[in-house]
Amino acid sequence: MQDTLTALAEHHGDGDNFRQLMKDTAAKRFDEGFWKTWESWIAPVLGEPAQIADFGSGPAILLQNLRDRYPDAHLIGVECAPWMLEVENSHYELIEHDLHEADLPIADNSLDAITAIFVLHELKQPIEFLKSIHRCLKSGGRSLIVDWVRAPLELYLANQISDDIFTTANSHAELSNLFTHFTEHNRYSREDVAWMLQQIGFKVLENVPLQQGRFGRWIVEKD
Ligand SMILES: C[S@@+](CC[C@H](N)C(=O)[O-])C[C@H]1O[C@@H](n2cnc3c(N)ncnc32)[C@H](O)[C@@H]1O
Repeated sequence: MQDTLTALAEHHGDGDNFRQLMKDTAAKRFDEGFWKTWESWIAPVLGEPAQIADFGSGPAILLQNLRDRYPDAHLIGVECAPWMLEVENSHYELIEHDLHEADLPIADNSLDAITAIFVLHELKQPIEFLKSIHRCLKSGGRSLIVDWVRAPLELYLANQISDDIFTTANSHAELSNLFTHFTEHNRYSREDVAWMLQQIGFKVLENVPLQQGRFGRWIVEKD
C-alpha cells in the first residue's frame, strides 16, 4: 500500500488540491454522454435493489449521483488515497483498499455493475484490478471503464497547456511535470485495454474513443 500511496502522491501532487480538481471537473466526466451510455448499457442489467461499485472512487461524485438516481441501491466505493477517503459520506459503503491487491473484501459474483473512471492508468499493473472486477460481478454483470489512452504528443499538449512550449519560457519543473504526465497518461492503446479485458474473460461490448481519441471507453460483460 505504501508504494502505491507514494506513487499516487507523486502523480497527483498536493492531495487536497487534487481532490478539489476531481470535484471541479466531475461534471465533464459525468456528463450527458456518460449518462446516455449508462442508460444504454448499465441500467438494463441492474437488479432490484441495484448492487454497484465504483473502483477508484476518488471524492465519490459518481456515487453521489448514483444515490440520487437509485435511492435503494447498495453502493460501494473502493479507494486507497487518504486525501480521497476524507470525503463526507453517509450514502455509500467505502472500502479502503489498494486495487493492486487481490484480497478486495467484496463477495464473488455479487455486483450488477462496476465503474472504473480514470483509474486504470494509475495502477503500476492492472491485472489484479481487472481480475477483481471480473470476480465481483455477477454473471451478466457489466463494467463501464473510462481512461486515458495513447494519443499523439501534439494533441495531448494542446489539451494540457495553452502556452506554446517551444516559444514560452516555462520552467524546468513545469515542463518536467507536463512530460511526466504525458508518459503516465499514454500507457495503453484502446486495443491494449480491450485485449486485457478479453484475456481476463470479459466479452467486450463497446470500445470507443472519446475526446478526439485522448480517452477510451469500454463496456464489458461477464458470461
Ligand atoms: C483520476 S482519480 C478519478 C476519481 C474518480 N473515479 C472520478 O472520476 O472522479 C483516480 C482515483 O483512483 C484512485 N486510485 C489509484 N490507484 C488506486 C489503487 N491502487 N487502489 C485504489 N484506488 C486507487 C486514486 O486515489 C484516485 O482517487
